[in-house]
Amino acid sequence: MLTQRQLFFRHVGQTSDEPVAIEAVKAEGIYIYDNKGNKYIDLIAGVSVSNVGHRHPKVVEAVKNQLDKYMHLMVYGEYIQSPQVEFAKMLTDLLPKTLDSIYYVNSGSEAIEGALKLAKRYTGRHKIIAFKNTYHGSTHGALSLMSDDTYNMAFRPLLPAVEFLDFNSTDNFDIIDKNTACVVVEAVQAEAGIIPGKKDFFEKLSRKCKENGVLIISDEVQTGFGRTGSLFAFEQFGFVPDIMAVAKGMGAGMPVGAFISDKKIMDCFTNNPILGHITTFGGHPVSVAAALAGLKVLTEGNLISKVKEKGELFLSLLKHQNIKSVRGIGLFYAVDLGSFDNVKKFIENAENNGILTDWFLFDETCFRIAPPLTITQDEIKITCEKIIKSLDF
Ligand SMILES: Cc1ncc(COP(=O)(O)O)c(C=O)c1O
Repeated sequence: MLTQRQLFFRHVGQTSDEPVAIEAVKAEGIYIYDNKGNKYIDLIAGVSVSNVGHRHPKVVEAVKNQLDKYMHLMVYGEYIQSPQVEFAKMLTDLLPKTLDSIYYVNSGSEAIEGALKLAKRYTGRHKIIAFKNTYHGSTHGALSLMSDDTYNMAFRPLLPAVEFLDFNSTDNFDIIDKNTACVVVEAVQAEAGIIPGKKDFFEKLSRKCKENGVLIISDEVQTGFGRTGSLFAFEQFGFVPDIMAVAKGMGAGMPVGAFISDKKIMDCFTNNPILGHITTFGGHPVSVAAALAGLKVLTEGNLISKVKEKGELFLSLLKHQNIKSVRGIGLFYAVDLGSFDNVKKFIENAENNGILTDWFLFDETCFRIAPPLTITQDEIKITCEKIIKSLDF
């Protein structure tokens, strides 16, 4: 009989020749366990998904309760489903007044697609501006926002009229004009290797967009739900987006995403044409029940207020001759080892020492520190000891 591993390589679609291929049997808190009895500290957290830890008991309970009531009922937006209503009320109460309407989708890519369509429909324009070295998703629209040809050349033609700017630079802001529908930006560029924005950059960006009637779409797919030390990263950078895209951490381990805007913008999808964006499973009640439980865990305790302190503990312990620099915010760090070779050596050692990490799409000389936000001070100390040990190569 073929093993799970053999069946995985034979029948499960792959995205590279070298998947990590750990055979997971269980995950709990900050740990993932494999079929060989190994226990790993998860510094990836599903790429900023498991912010409240794997299988948080409150999330598991909410999922089970919802399973006992109903699962999928009808395509999105037609029936009143209490998890969607409760989550929307709770989240919009935590957001600025102009972000008061939530459209539920299934993923970050779909959140970006929906946000782009909404911006085009609301402004009646089609020019889109994005920043270099960002990843916004793999669907055609989201992929069009990627400046790096490596990942999108083979899939062209993509969306026309997309232009790119350098992050944190106001040099070419003149391209933001009255033909522009939206600017898509991250408050902290995730896959560029965790590069926080500058406040005055966002101040000028907001001003320029306002002057020209251009919407700001903030991609909070990785940075949202506490990762950077505030519920959403934009809160720390002095701007309020017109549309915010979220996913990953939103579902606390279940698949769901959303784009959020002022109701007067969102209402565009009800007319000219009717059904401006539709989705079957968007906001699946079981996923949103998990999201609601996750949001309560994040906001009703002191999890988010402790994020910065925990990040600083990492920073104070990460001292080694092979570390060139550490960059980031909250519990979201890129550790620069100077070369891809070093990162590969480190990741292999780390795995052997019980740590899971990876590198960034647009920064291969850094490895990622983005554990569940539930990680304790003691667990951080153990993690850093293992990291330091793995850096001896
Ligand atoms: C910043 C950002 N935006 C969008 C996406 C796309 O999200 P998804 O993979 O859920 O489609 C990702 C995924 O990694 C992301 O990091």
